Amino acid sequence: MKIKKKWLGAGLAATLVAVQAFAQAPGSVERGRYLMQSVVACGNCHYQRGPQGEPLPEKGLSGGMAWDEPGIQAHAANITPDPETGIGKWTDAQLAKAIREGVRPDGSLIGPPMPVAFYRHLSDDDLKAIVAYLRAQPAVKNAVPKSSYGFPLPPNYGPAVTAVKAPPRANKVKYGEYLANIGHCMECHTPRDGKGMLVKGQWGAGGQVFKGPWGASVSRNLTSHATGLKSWSDAEVAKAIRTGMDREGKPYRPPMGFGFYQNISDEDMGALVAYLRSLKPQAFAGTK
Ligand code: HEC
Ligand code: HEC
Repeated sequence: MKIKKKWLGAGLAATLVAVQAFAQAPGSVERGRYLMQSVVACGNCHYQRGPQGEPLPEKGLSGGMAWDEPGIQAHAANITPDPETGIGKWTDAQLAKAIREGVRPDGSLIGPPMPVAFYRHLSDDDLKAIVAYLRAQPAVKNAVPKSSYGFPLPPNYGPAVTAVKAPPRANKVKYGEYLANIGHCMECHTPRDGKGMLVKGQWGAGGQVFKGPWGASVSRNLTSHATGLKSWSDAEVAKAIRTGMDREGKPYRPPMGFGFYQNISDEDMGALVAYLRSLKPQAFAGTK
């Protein structure tokens, strides 16, 4: 069943990740599982949803989320190993290219809102881990309609990505930026211009509006400006991301992927918060 609701959050969908950081060999399925069920959260878009928008985790990453906006009728694809309706016939290299460069095996481009520009930052090891995780999932048969766009997609998202290494974890700000990139935080937390492009000069200033069954949620200002996180302690920021509640205990709404983010390790959360603290303070870009 397809649902025409935008940006359904994955709040309840993710299951707790039992695998701890020390068990994650680079490029391994365990590393992939940790990333997918925490900061990377592909399931926030690729999980199937029920008629009320409730997540159907038992159907895995078999797609079904739909966007119906002027110029964009997009459907998150089935990325389980089903050979007919999923990615079962793709090689690992083809799958990796699709994720990091947005190019399918037939040469066509994957359209928005798949955040390919951010996935170009995925390290070779983490990309390998995500591919290994996808391969290890059960195949689910679910035919997802083709997306259509009222504008031409660009010829590509940039030159071929050949080799990427993650920055050293010891550099908390840089590693945190890496995590924020592969978690596409700024895809939602940066305002967009009239053409829908992220406004680079207001990185992290929030203000995007997301409509859905929850009404309208507005992405918050993640910079340390008075209208953002200035008066928050690092621990309060981490707690908000994990629990999906603000300092007064008021729950946030989708599409922020709290159900996934609760599984972010302490070390990774420390790096993410350090990165947010490094952003140039900016006034909130939204209206409320
Ligand atoms: C913000 C929503 C969103 C997120 C997050 C997202 N995707 Fe997608 N993805 C989409 C949409 C929408 C499409 C279909 C676009 C189209 O039809 O051109 C898609 C298409 C794909 C495809 C192409 C499949 C096919 O058969 O054409 C692959 C592979 C894929 N996504 C993998 C991933 C992986 C892996 C992640 C996490 C690293 C991810 N996606 C995160 C929305 C998302
Ligand atoms: C799909 C869009 C989306 C993505 C991706 C996303 N967020 Fe959010 N985030 C939101 C929205 C919308 C809200 C506000 C929800 C509300 O007000 O009900 C929010 C709220 C927050 C808050 C609360 C701040 C405050 O002032 O109360 C923090 C902190 C935050 N996000 C950090 C992050 C980080 C870090 C990431 C990446 C790991 C991230 N977000 C990814 C949409 C997103």
